[in-house]
Amino acid sequence: MTPTDPNAHRPEPIDTTVTETEIGEKTLEELRQIAARYPQSRSALLPMLHLVQSVEGRVTPAGIEACAEILGLSTADVSGVATFYTMYKRRPNGEYNVGVCTTALCAIMGGDDVYDRLSKHLGVGHDETTADGKITLERVECNAACDFAPVVMVNWEFMDNQTPDSAVELVDKLRDGQELTSTRGARICTWRQSERVLAGYPDGRADEGPTSGPQSQLGVRIASENGWRAPTPEEAAQAKADAEREKAEAEANGEGEAK
Ligand code: FES
Repeated sequence: MTPTDPNAHRPEPIDTTVTETEIGEKTLEELRQIAARYPQSRSALLPMLHLVQSVEGRVTPAGIEACAEILGLSTADVSGVATFYTMYKRRPNGEYNVGVCTTALCAIMGGDDVYDRLSKHLGVGHDETTADGKITLERVECNAACDFAPVVMVNWEFMDNQTPDSAVELVDKLRDGQELTSTRGARICTWRQSERVLAGYPDGRADEGPTSGPQSQLGVRIASENGWRAPTPEEAAQAKADAEREKAEAEANGEGEAK
């Protein structure tokens, strides 16, 4: 695979030759805690795999076995889930997961250019990690942030309105160890820390930074300036009844004219 291959994707199986693991009793206990949160324990598999990644830096055979044993599933069941979702990594992930949205709107607004520039600058392609272990580059699907296109996600925190130049500056700062803050969110933590949050262990940063931006609030601002508001349920029901009555009258009149 080359860094410029736009369709680069490697659906690899879990590497069963990996025998080393950092999963100890503390992690096993936390995996059991997650399983206990759900009425049907197998529902816990997704957050449990995130916890495995927070410890191992990817999904390992030991992590799969631990999840399977706690949930009473087969390792094939767990592997099937871990290899289906792209958020679960089969190779060691970088310290920062940099996802460039290349879905339609971001692509039109320059997402493909951002991805290509980063790919060349970092010397890696989709789902590949730089030799220093700092950055894993990915193409990602729409992050529901189209009003800030093109969007880059660093460990699932938004970096809005990117350009090829700003994206290169972003990854250079990350590799340099500089502290960065999401344009609409918290300070950027490491990928392993973010995986722990996804497992359901908050890091206290959820309320850091703004949660929305001017683009998302534009409709509210225009409505406010014009004194517009949403109708009450009673007003909406009355408007619907009026519309249906007017339609019925129009149809009746139309039939009368036809005759
Ligand atoms: S298309 Fe990129 S966030 Fe929606």
